[in-house]
Amino acid sequence: MDKLAESVAVNVADYRRLARRALPGDVWDFIAGGSGDQLTMRANRRAFAGVGLRPRVLVDVSGRTTETTMLGAQVAAPIAIAPMAYHCLADPEGEVATARAAAGLVTVVSSFASRTIEDVAAAAAGPLWFQLYCFRDRGVMTDLVRRAEATGYRALVLTVDMPMMGRRDADARNGFTLPAEVTPVNLTGAGPGGADGAVAGRPDVAELTRQLLDDGVTWEIVRWLRGITGLPLVLKGILTGEDAARAVELGAAGVIVSNHGGRQLDGAIAALHALPDVLDRVGQDCEVYVDGGVRRGADVLKALALGARAVLVGRPVLWGLAARGEAGVRDVLQIMSNELDLAMGLSGCPTVASITRRPDAIVRRIPGPPAAAPPVGAATADGAARDGAEQPAARVAHEFRRGSGAAGTGPPGPAGAAGP
Ligand SMILES: Cc1cc2nc3c(=O)[nH]c(=O)nc-3n(C[C@H](O)[C@H](O)[C@H](O)COP(=O)(O)O)c2cc1C
Repeated sequence: MDKLAESVAVNVADYRRLARRALPGDVWDFIAGGSGDQLTMRANRRAFAGVGLRPRVLVDVSGRTTETTMLGAQVAAPIAIAPMAYHCLADPEGEVATARAAAGLVTVVSSFASRTIEDVAAAAAGPLWFQLYCFRDRGVMTDLVRRAEATGYRALVLTVDMPMMGRRDADARNGFTLPAEVTPVNLTGAGPGGADGAVAGRPDVAELTRQLLDDGVTWEIVRWLRGITGLPLVLKGILTGEDAARAVELGAAGVIVSNHGGRQLDGAIAALHALPDVLDRVGQDCEVYVDGGVRRGADVLKALALGARAVLVGRPVLWGLAARGEAGVRDVLQIMSNELDLAMGLSGCPTVASITRRPDAIVRRIPGPPAAAPPVGAATADGAARDGAEQPAARVAHEFRRGSGAAGTGPPGPAGAAGP
């Protein structure tokens, strides 16, 4: 299916434009938006712009490969598909098309997927992980876990940054409700705690989520989940070293440093800036991933150079799906993988292992005045606030001081600063 065949798309931003044309306005807003003034959503992008690469030359990069592993599974690149609700909003094939397109990459399937756990498993061309929210009804969670286990999902991702849903003004303004043909199919028919009643009433998405989520949830749920399944557990939505350490104590095999793409707590720090704190506490003990604002292969390289094992990509996948269905998702992922390959070649890093926490630190904070957020993936609403007051992560600031020579005599510039 090629919905917009005449339009050339050479990067993720092109797919964003195509998706905007393809989608109804309220669906576009639901996917594109962040909470509040979208400070955090923008901070995610600015964080990448505020980090510079320090390439090494005359390294033989002829044998380059982007391959690596995630929780022991071989993957074609350190790029995974972030869990996102309701892919059928973007294309009728929904998560099935996405999982088919993500060949050789980890796809994380949301609890709020609009295709069944089983259908996605039958179609997937790479390892699958299943994402759980902390639902009030633990019976619903148990049911989802059993279905994921039975169909070969290899890990569970427990999203912990959503005891309640962040408020997105555009959705409230639009009175956004799901179209009748898009439902959280894995939650309907799930018993008394499931979504049957709520979905039948066609509530807005926020109301549906409010009914299902447990705002009284504590760390006890991690212990409980570990007790009912042997699947490796990854906690998603961690932004502090303290919480990462607690997750590892309770047996997490990985953490995803994430602010939910700026859709939860507006004002939370950029995910990339939270990464060094988390790595300093648990970098030796579990796999650490990051998501939020990854739009270019060079962004992946920066995240890995700061110590992430892999990144997850959210909205760009739905942009590809909305613009060109399965082929669009495949293209978006190929573009990002190709860009990563190029960035690795141009920075003297032939392998993923040669990037991660390179002893000569290829990352530097870029000095200079605060700049406008870069256009790729930038906010759609016109909240004017900036994230310039955010503190840069300690490790990055340290590297900046160490490596910036004369320009580094002063303190590091504010987060979000862009180079000359
Ligand atoms: C439309 C949409 C739906 C999402 N649904 C979920 C979800 O069901 N579960 C979850 O853990 N995160 C969800 N997220 C957050 C993503 O997993 C991820 O953290 C975020 O999108 C990454 O940022 P990016 O979009 O800038 O790449 C959603 C994000 C979007 C944009």
